[in-house]
Amino acid sequence: MEPPRAGSWPEIVIRPSSDADVPAMIAIYEHHIGRGVGDTGDFEEERLKPDDLKRRRKNMRSKRLPHLVAERDGEVAGYAYAVPFRKRPAYRYTLKHSIYVHHGHLNAGIGRRLLPALIEACAAGGYRQMIGYIDAANEASLRLHEACGFARVGLLPSVGYKYGRWTDSVMVQCALGTGDRDQPPPRAVATGDSAGL
Ligand SMILES: CC(C)(COP(=O)(O)OP(=O)(O)OC[C@H]1O[C@@H](n2cnc3c(N)ncnc32)[C@H](O)[C@@H]1OP(=O)(O)O)[C@@H](O)C(=O)NCCC(=O)NCCS
Repeated sequence: MEPPRAGSWPEIVIRPSSDADVPAMIAIYEHHIGRGVGDTGDFEEERLKPDDLKRRRKNMRSKRLPHLVAERDGEVAGYAYAVPFRKRPAYRYTLKHSIYVHHGHLNAGIGRRLLPALIEACAAGGYRQMIGYIDAANEASLRLHEACGFARVGLLPSVGYKYGRWTDSVMVQCALGTGDRDQPPPRAVATGDSAGL
């Protein structure tokens, strides 16, 4: 059966994450990373600890960087966030992002709700470009990003190593708001730490 498309899931609520969501987000993350289907082979030797994630969230909130969850029938079914693309001030209008959907809710339109909400929040924050790195074999993520307006802007060959083989990453990019069509407002946006969950 075809999954319902974006907009046809009235029970999906997109909202800012809270500390109470951290265990659910860790579970989603660990499932995907453990299976090696995540974006850039983002393996962490140490298990993620709830307090570290709470600190990261707080840090991001203080920089007005979005950290969102998708709730489906009261359960956290996915999350997405954006962090600075690079620390240097010249790159302060550019973000990179991550998105993870619970393995029990894949291909059900959650990503199609969550990613546009993240894009909107980043644009509202004054950012102008959004970058993603996607494993070249990750059809679902490539499709999702294409559907949400990201263009493929680069291929990074053999930058990952998972399960005994080298993997390529696709770099995707989406302009936010007016993008590069005008000057950014003088108001500063966040710079600094690019750690995320
Ligand atoms: C990538 C991911 C976020 C997509 O979320 P999702 O909620 O399953 O995606 P949706 O159901 O909203 O579908 C988005 C699009 O991808 C397509 N799609 C979903 N799963 C797919 C699959 N396994 N293969 C091919 N296309 C797929 C859908 O058909 C849809 O395309 P359409 O809008 O043209 O119909 C999810 O698969 C995930 O969390 N994967 C593991 C972590 C990860 O890879 N994160 C991204 C890192 S860059």
